[in-house]
Amino acid sequence: MALIIDGNALAAEIRTEVSADVARLTTSTGIVPGLNLLLVGEDPASTVYVRNKSKDCEKVGIRSTIVRMAATATEEEVVEQVREWNNDPTVHGILVQLPIPKHINEHRVIRTIDPAKDVDGFHPENAGRLLIGLDGFIPCTPYGVLEMLKRYNIETSGKHAVVVGRSNIVGKPLAILLAQKRPQGNATVTICHTGTPNIAEHTRRADILISAVGVHGVITADHVKDGAVVIDVGINRITLPDGTTKLTGDVLFDEVSAKASAITPVPGGVGPMTRAMLLRNTVTAAERIGGR
Ligand SMILES: NC(=O)c1ccc[n+]([C@@H]2O[C@H](COP(=O)([O-])OP(=O)(O)OC[C@H]3O[C@@H](n4cnc5c(N)ncnc54)[C@H](OP(=O)(O)O)[C@@H]3O)[C@@H](O)[C@H]2O)c1
Repeated sequence: MALIIDGNALAAEIRTEVSADVARLTTSTGIVPGLNLLLVGEDPASTVYVRNKSKDCEKVGIRSTIVRMAATATEEEVVEQVREWNNDPTVHGILVQLPIPKHINEHRVIRTIDPAKDVDGFHPENAGRLLIGLDGFIPCTPYGVLEMLKRYNIETSGKHAVVVGRSNIVGKPLAILLAQKRPQGNATVTICHTGTPNIAEHTRRADILISAVGVHGVITADHVKDGAVVIDVGINRITLPDGTTKLTGDVLFDEVSAKASAITPVPGGVGPMTRAMLLRNTVTAAERIGGR
């Protein structure tokens, strides 16, 4: 039976550390880290995410402000709001909750964010920095996965990591980070996606298997080597035979945990880590801006 990697406990540990760093920063410089969140439209899931992120901030002493704009807001209005925050010295982190309504060019909005305040790590400058191994902001989910590997002393150097999924916010940055010559890196990395003919052929060779797909059951016991570490990034809502719904990952947890050496559950795995790393990135932004 695999070791269950406890994302809730790790996230609590990180919040405690962030909280201490906020107190230290505020005492030594007077700076109170501030995160401003922009929500465009009324998507119910996004509304919950933004509220949770703001509550997380409160717990650790980060000031947070949510600004809501109607779904009919123009691209110029959104860009103008971001520019205003870029120029506000009390705002250290800027987060535009995605997705935004289709009539607004998401890439332009992200590009407008000052890269020094881009705590989601989605700005092309931060993506480029990550690619060439410079300090910047690592997107929160890949960052959370690296922290899990680090805090559970899971060796990556010399191992074969297989990442399923190649999105710009999870799969791609994670694969690059694992391949970099750095702590929690130096792995040999394979990336699988919808263009990979036989995924199991690759995943079965993984010492560390990371699934970031968004399809429940895409990873079965047949996809996993005995003793592999399995990180499940996926979040899917499935309907049970009795009509109720349940959150699940990409991995068939029961059968895979019988084979793996360690595994993350859903919920309680990568999700809380993603939220915790946003707090870490916001404090890092405040520290860097404070030190300018
Ligand atoms: N735990 C967290 O904090 C957290 C954070 C972010 C996302 N998530 C979850 O993680 C999952 C992935 O998120 P994302 O934003 O990366 O999603 P995404 O943008 O939809 O990307 C999914 C990736 O999986 C690939 N894919 C889809 N079906 C596949 C299949 N059957 N076999 C192999 N590859 C397949 C896609 O390939 P193509 O490129 O060919 O389309 C794509 O690269 C979602 O469930 C999301 O909710 C969780």
